[in-house]
Parts: sequence; C-alpha cells; structure tokens
Amino acid sequence: MSTTYTLDTSTSRANPTPAPMRRLSVPAIAARKGKEPVVMLTAYTARYAQLFDPHCDMLLVGDSLGQVIYGLPSTVPVTLEMMINHGAAVVRGSYHSVVIIDLPFGSYEASPEQAFATAARVLKETGAAGVKLEGGEAMAPTVRFLVERGIPVVGHVGLTPQAVNALGGYGARGKSEAEQAKILRDAKAISDAGAFSVVIEGVVEPLAVEITNAISAVTIGIGASAACDGQVLVAEDMLGLFDRVPRFVRRFHNLAEQIEGAAKAYAEAVRDRSFPGEDNLYQIPAESLARK
Ligand code: KIV
Repeated sequence: MSTTYTLDTSTSRANPTPAPMRRLSVPAIAARKGKEPVVMLTAYTARYAQLFDPHCDMLLVGDSLGQVIYGLPSTVPVTLEMMINHGAAVVRGSYHSVVIIDLPFGSYEASPEQAFATAARVLKETGAAGVKLEGGEAMAPTVRFLVERGIPVVGHVGLTPQAVNALGGYGARGKSEAEQAKILRDAKAISDAGAFSVVIEGVVEPLAVEITNAISAVTIGIGASAACDGQVLVAEDMLGLFDRVPRFVRRFHNLAEQIEGAAKAYAEAVRDRSFPGEDNLYQIPAESLARK
C-alpha cells in the first residue's frame, strides 16, 4: 500500500496514512514502575538501532561506545561530538524506542548550567528523548535543573564507569554497609530530583532490590537484580562479540564466531578466485555486443 499525506495547516506537518508506529514517550516509560519490565539495549549505529528497535522500549547510546567502537581504554576520553554523531544515527535508525544519550565525562559536572547547555545541544542535534548522567547526591541539583527546564534525565548510580580513576576499577559496589547506605542515598537523591529512570550498575543484589522499592523512578539494572523495573546490557556483550564475559552478562548469541567465520570464508574465496562469481559481475548487454 502506498503512503498518502494530509497537510495539517496548523503545524505545516504532512501526516502520513497509514500512520507509522508511534515512538514510546518518556511518561509511558515512567508509568512502567513496578509493572511490565522495561527492555533497554545499547545501540551506537543506525543498523543496530533498526534491528533492536522493534524489541526494545529504550535504546541507550552509551558512552561505552568509547571501548566498544573506538577501542579506548575507558569512557573517560569519549567526546560530546562522538555521542552526538552516534546518537543522531540511532535516532534515524529507530521509530519506536525512547532514545537516551549519555552525557560524556567532563561535559556536565562543572555546573547545572554546563549540563543544560550540553544536554540541550544533544537533544537539538540528535532528536533523542533524553540524556543519562552518572553520579549521586552531588548531581541531584543538576538533575533538578535539567528536569525543570524540560530535559528528561536518566540517572546512573552504583558502579559509575566515568569515575573509574577514583573508584580504582570496575568491581561491584555496595559490599560494605556504609557503601550500601551511600548508594541508596544517591539513588533517592537522583529520583527525588526528578529523574524518570535510574540505571543501577554493578551492585550487590539486595541493594538493587532495596533501591527499586525505595524510589519512584524506574530502575534499570545491569549487574543488579532481576527485580529492577527493567534491564540494560551492552549489545555487543549480549551478542557475544567479546571474549571476556563478565558475571553480569549473558551471551544470547556468538556473533564473534560468525563474523570471523564469514571473514575467513571471504578471504579463502578471494584467494582461490571463486569470488567474485558470475552472479556478482556486470556483463555487456547482448544488444550492445550485437551492434559491434
Ligand atoms: O555506557 C553504557 O553503555 C552504559 C550502560 C552500561 C548502562 O552506561
């Protein structure tokens, strides 16, 4: 069926018929607290976004792209330009999921005003629905500042990878009572400041359950608990692209093996000249040959 358009003269928008699937909204995700689990995956490219979109509620353009795409040692060197370029690609590749983009290290911590300028640029230049930022109590005034100015925010507490230099590594958090109390305070502060969702990463399981029961924001777990309001994984981890499989990852596929197998088969076909084959080649049309 072909698409037809009706012009809405009040907005100058051409509305297509049949109407495409509508994108989920931030309030629709916020309303999922304690209900059907929210499915989130990272995506950094338009093609991955296309493939994940029908199955997800939220797509996260995580700053984990620093390691996954750029081979950087941590998320610390990731730039705002990287996040904006990949964020725009993911928005273009999706039509259903809420797209959230990580604010990279150094682009938001100095002041609420700095965070607003960065987040506004991200939303304007990508079309994403909201931003994610790391940190607890100290970032609560910034979260409030953004939310009060119309920017939906996802928080991120527990293991916060941008703080790797201060934390000294990527080990699970909340092993002592004092650390549990601090992470709980962090999550409450971010939720009370208006974040509609909070990622809880790499914490002991009972703490993730306690946070989920204590805050009004939708909790998204990664290395946290099945009791969280939703889950996120780095897509390349769950696809089996990396040899290292941390405890919190489940591999749902072994893509590395398949990609390597395809590269090996291609290399063999080039070397034994079986590629390109007849069906991959362009020939001079018979009529042109006849005219000669
Ligand atoms: O950058 C990222 O991919 C993330 C997820 C691990 C939550 O922050």
